[in-house]
Amino acid sequence: MNVSNKIATPDNLFWPQRNSIVSATIIDKAVVLHWNDDQQSTLHPVWLRDNCCCEECLNPVTREHLLDLRDVPLDIRPSSVDIDAEGALVVSWSEGQHRSRYNPDWLHAHSTEARSQRDDQIRQWSATDLSEPPSLDAINGVVTDELLYEALVTILRYGMVRLRGLPTDPAQVETMALRIGPIRETHFNRIFDVISKADSDTLAYTSHHLAAHTDIPTRESPPGIQLLHCRIAEAKGGQSTLTDGFKVAHDIKRQFPAHYKTLISAKWCHANRAGATDYRWSAPIIGLDDRGEPLEVRLLPFSRAPLQADYKDMDSIYAALVCFMDLVNSPDYQISFPLAAGDLIMFDNRRVLHGRSEFYPKTGDRALRGTYIERDDVMSKIREFEQLRSRSS
Ligand code: OGA
Ligand code: ZN
Ligand code: ZN
Repeated sequence: MNVSNKIATPDNLFWPQRNSIVSATIIDKAVVLHWNDDQQSTLHPVWLRDNCCCEECLNPVTREHLLDLRDVPLDIRPSSVDIDAEGALVVSWSEGQHRSRYNPDWLHAHSTEARSQRDDQIRQWSATDLSEPPSLDAINGVVTDELLYEALVTILRYGMVRLRGLPTDPAQVETMALRIGPIRETHFNRIFDVISKADSDTLAYTSHHLAAHTDIPTRESPPGIQLLHCRIAEAKGGQSTLTDGFKVAHDIKRQFPAHYKTLISAKWCHANRAGATDYRWSAPIIGLDDRGEPLEVRLLPFSRAPLQADYKDMDSIYAALVCFMDLVNSPDYQISFPLAAGDLIMFDNRRVLHGRSEFYPKTGDRALRGTYIERDDVMSKIREFEQLRSRSS
């Protein structure tokens, strides 16, 4: 069976042609499908009608709905179902003359228990599994689209990647970011230089050790992906560190369940009072998604505002925070590695905590240049590359 993309791509995404419908029947008002992988889907008639992708219902260029759901009778029923010669599901409706046709892979992806792509790809890690970030070498200083795709999939999986062998000119980090998505601007510079400064308004721009942290948890939505390009690495010290916050969350949940409960519920405010701006946001250290899985971690120890909690809860809130800080900075979880000039690391700032050891400016210069993009820019770019690949294969 070969369903071409063109006949039935019901939305903007490419669906790999893996699944086929073995049988389609109407039971009561539902369309029941049996799949070649033995799964079964029970499809609601309004859901099917809502997702019709004919040119009357879906703009073929923008892939946006033209059908106004208010025009669909909520008691609509399928009058007949069929699997056509190309394996697509065809449904005729009780109302009017309308017929709808659905790509089986799209149906499979949206109606079975298949786990989401994102979950399948995440690999939690500790310092037992890795000693350095997964690394990819630029070829003669060039990051091809193929290499960039590998890098983005690696970020999705491990929350981090290191590209090696890039030129060290100041434009590199912005160029790389813009190949993935728009820059996520913040109240700091759009492109920032991490160098030791005499008049620094943040600990980051000194030569101090920086404990494991996430950047800018003072915002409702902290930047998703951080890019740091090492341009000069002459100073002694200044090793980079990275820690998988999701792995730490996972292990705390098992080993210290009481601390875990506190970390997902007690709110800490992070505040930035330098300059004229006054950003603050209160949220738990570990933020969960609607299935109870970690969605983000937030921790910038030197920007914590005073804890606001009942006296009776303070023992447990402080103990849980210190437990989290101990683990994210422990050699069991934190990897520590030197950055060479021409290295560019990208990491998920809402999953992976970063830091550095102290460096010694008298021994030489150290210059990193950084910027941010968002997590969903990475996801979109991965899908874009996959669509291009599928079209050319
Ligand atoms: C920062 C930071 C890391 C480094 O600027 O927020 O974490 O290696 N810098 O200097
Ligand atoms: Zn239609
Ligand atoms: Zn930082």
